[in-house]
Amino acid sequence: MSTQTPTLVFAGSTRAQSWNRQLAGAVATIATAEGAQVTHLELADFDIPLYNADLEAKGTPRDVVRLKEIFHAHPAWLICSPEYNGSYTALLKNTIDWVSSPIKGDPEWSNGTKAFTGKVVGLLAASPGALGGLRSLSHLTPLMLNLQCWVAPRQFALSRASEAFDPDGQLSTDFARSNVKAVVDQVLWATRQFQKA
Ligand SMILES: Cc1cc2nc3c(=O)[nH]c(=O)nc-3n(C[C@H](O)[C@H](O)[C@H](O)COP(=O)(O)O)c2cc1C
Repeated sequence: MSTQTPTLVFAGSTRAQSWNRQLAGAVATIATAEGAQVTHLELADFDIPLYNADLEAKGTPRDVVRLKEIFHAHPAWLICSPEYNGSYTALLKNTIDWVSSPIKGDPEWSNGTKAFTGKVVGLLAASPGALGGLRSLSHLTPLMLNLQCWVAPRQFALSRASEAFDPDGQLSTDFARSNVKAVVDQVLWATRQFQKA
């Protein structure tokens, strides 16, 4: 059982018909069923420009600060990563770069990794291809570790994503559902262990 662990779920795509956004929806459903208190975030709801230090020097965008607060408030995260050219998307990297950038002189956010340190992060991917975006996770893992996150060893890449969902957006096979559940359960279990410590 996982007692109401605040859990953030989001995808590294804003595409309307995104498989990773659909996977994030399925992950949120499964995490809720497992007892997590889920916040399902859409990166499209945040107005975040391409990172540029000159722009940042004029003031960190309000939505970046909003994201820092949301990231910080959730001890468990589940990220669904598309794969572009064997890696994660520019959207995901840009978002993470902004959120990890210190706000100079700010009493709350002068430490760049504050919103990341100690989070338990589960990584999933979806792709229409045969590997399911697996290679994006091999790049995303060291990125999250570098930000002082604990990355769950259990990961899942959903291959042939265009055939993997029901019309209602849920995963259509027991195989996919059980693999997502295994990631969710490990993240919730590890988060509880850290909270006890
Ligand atoms: C620039 C670009 C590079 C891509 N490279 C890969 C790749 O390396 N591996 C892969 O499985 N799919 C690749 N794809 C296909 C994506 O997996 C596919 O567009 C997927 O639908 C993107 O995720 P989304 O549906 O969540 O937006 C690439 C797509 C684009 C636009």
